[in-house]
Amino acid sequence: MAIIFNEKTKEFHLYNDQVSYLMKVMRNGQMGQLYFGKRIPQKENYDYLTENAYRPVTAYKYEGEYSFTLEHLKQEYPSYGTSDFRMPAVEILQENGSRITDFQYVSHKIYAGKPALQGLPATYAESDDEADTLEILLRDELLQVEMTLLYTIFQKENAIARSVRFQNNGTQNQQITTAMSLSLDLPDADYEWLQFSGAWGRERYVKKRRLEQGIQSIGSTRGASGHMHNPFVVLKRPAADEFQGEVMGFSFVYSGNFLAQAEVDTFQVTRMMIGIHPESFSWCLKPGESFQTPEAVVVYSDSGMNQMSQTFHRLYRTRLARGYWRDRERPVLLNNWEATYFNFTEEKLLNIAQTAKDAGVELFVLDDGWFSTRCGETSGLGDWWPNTDRLPNGIKGLSEKIEALGMKFGLWFELEMVNKDSELYRAHPDWILHTPNRHVSHGRQQYVLDFSRKEVVDYIYEMTAKILRESKISYIKWDMNRNITECYSIAYEACRQGEIFHRYILGFYDLYERLTSEFPHILFESCASGGGRFDPGLLYYAPQAWASDDTDAAERLKIQYGTSYAYPLSSMGAHVSITPNHQLNRMTPLKTRGDVACFGAFGYELDLSQLSESEMEEVRQQIVFVKKYRKLLHSGTFYRLLSPFDGNITAWMVVSEDKKHAVAAYFKVLNDINCEFRRIRLQGLDASMCYRAVDEAGRSESFYGAELMQIGLIATDSSAGQVIGDESLCTDFWSKIILLDADEA
Ligand code: DGJ
Repeated sequence: MAIIFNEKTKEFHLYNDQVSYLMKVMRNGQMGQLYFGKRIPQKENYDYLTENAYRPVTAYKYEGEYSFTLEHLKQEYPSYGTSDFRMPAVEILQENGSRITDFQYVSHKIYAGKPALQGLPATYAESDDEADTLEILLRDELLQVEMTLLYTIFQKENAIARSVRFQNNGTQNQQITTAMSLSLDLPDADYEWLQFSGAWGRERYVKKRRLEQGIQSIGSTRGASGHMHNPFVVLKRPAADEFQGEVMGFSFVYSGNFLAQAEVDTFQVTRMMIGIHPESFSWCLKPGESFQTPEAVVVYSDSGMNQMSQTFHRLYRTRLARGYWRDRERPVLLNNWEATYFNFTEEKLLNIAQTAKDAGVELFVLDDGWFSTRCGETSGLGDWWPNTDRLPNGIKGLSEKIEALGMKFGLWFELEMVNKDSELYRAHPDWILHTPNRHVSHGRQQYVLDFSRKEVVDYIYEMTAKILRESKISYIKWDMNRNITECYSIAYEACRQGEIFHRYILGFYDLYERLTSEFPHILFESCASGGGRFDPGLLYYAPQAWASDDTDAAERLKIQYGTSYAYPLSSMGAHVSITPNHQLNRMTPLKTRGDVACFGAFGYELDLSQLSESEMEEVRQQIVFVKKYRKLLHSGTFYRLLSPFDGNITAWMVVSEDKKHAVAAYFKVLNDINCEFRRIRLQGLDASMCYRAVDEAGRSESFYGAELMQIGLIATDSSAGQVIGDESLCTDFWSKIILLDADEA
């Protein structure tokens, strides 16, 4: 068991080979934080880490004593106003108007394995020996409210999952107004903060700044995790980089409003928190009721950011994603959206599908516009039955025809939305989220269904399940194209309106759970106007997510690079589209588009029949390559080598678990002239193994792993002078893939 409790010192030590997490019951009965980081020895007493000091202008707990103040103490789940003046992890508004609480240790439980969180996505253990869990029960005696802090440490990963459960055993209503999933007081502020932020079309750009005294935060109050910020933050030592140094990653397994915040106090203590955003949140805990927060995961690495990301990749790919598709090779798909937008007929779709089939595509996906009166943005959402004017044989007939071509068939849905011009809205105008007597804002001419209401979710479930039951559907793209405004549900009393954002997400997860349970063989891909809800919560239901509507290869370098800090390659929907690119009007080589997209869940977003015969041949070769290497690319260890945010060259690679095979790629955005001889140092290989390195032209040469890692892969191209024997000319938006295979001979 990797969790120890010392009765005498009241210290808890959670550890595995790589990390230690230490906390204790403090003198006032509350939980104090002692240490989180690289593994340290188990010892009777780490109390010297508790700072008892007298400072001026400080409030102390015990009368006449100057040694105990929460202002100086590192805590586990702090509250405001009893000598700590920083932002709290928990706040409860009581019937008398007070917000002061005092949660004191009562008992704890240590057990093997990891519990599921009712109605919420969470990481899991497949067997009891993969993880150990600690539950610490605390009670506020006055309120008779109990709070359970949950910690799971994974045996083989440098990761700890945390969440909190509240239970009201008292006689009064309690309004929880803040309930973070994780709070961690770190003893200094010598960190750089990395966030993954942007907008539609440029999701998850890497942004970095030094922590400073005061609060730095990111979050979402849009009802979805959003394009603007991802629920993931990194704290790293300033000297740490991709390959060395101390790094911590904080990730929130949730798809709605969130806050990730670091508060550096006047004594340089950093309080890191992540959880549901307190803005617009409150939860009315009536007597006898309980509330469970979503889960947060913290990963510690002493070997740089690549190691942190690799832990997240393994954990999220194999112990967050679930089901039939978790470990399976993902089909090469073709999506008709950029090929046709709303302008298609069954005949046109079948022609596109036939060409795709001839090229080796395995799955044809019909995007928006197939249902009801939906021929544009203004109508039809909510009415999930086929438009038989466009598709005379319905979805059933079309899906059978696609299967007869030898492909699988996939379909687009946007189940949370309704247009006013729809049968659903006409029948149930009060089913949208809206504040009575207030104007309701639209987004893309659509409104958000009130998924906090079970009858609404039930109705959508039945309508969706009907079409899935009667047609041959192997894949669903679940889109979401607007955020929530005027959030209010007419189904709930006034004191519960602060719950609606969260109840909406619970309803949304419930629908996902029911659909994935009834149709376990359907591959779900999440989407929200591109990558507007690319978060760990959704990976629990949908193992892949459309990373961005921006399919330009150069832009995708940044998007996929930023996404890779927390999310595995298998989760990143990445497609080759036409040029000029529809988002940037940019021309990039077909090869580069393929080379970028193959480091993701690969597909096409164009009508292949528009391509020339030589381009089609290139597409056929791309698909052969993806089918051969997708297993390695998705399950191997991914290394970021050179960042698109730092220079003109991006490089990354994937190494197989046994280190015998690797795929390395580098991309040059703009061509340069008379430039340096270039080498890219590779990572993760076996130093003593000899590898045959083969490029796309079939040229090969053998190198020891040590050479490739210490000296580097020679990455010189024609911009450093024409290489003798190599006639290829480097251009803008240029890419190269090198295959490395252990030379067994
Ligand atoms: C937004 C998505 O990101 C696109 O891929 C496409 O599915 C459209 N919605 C359809 O309306």
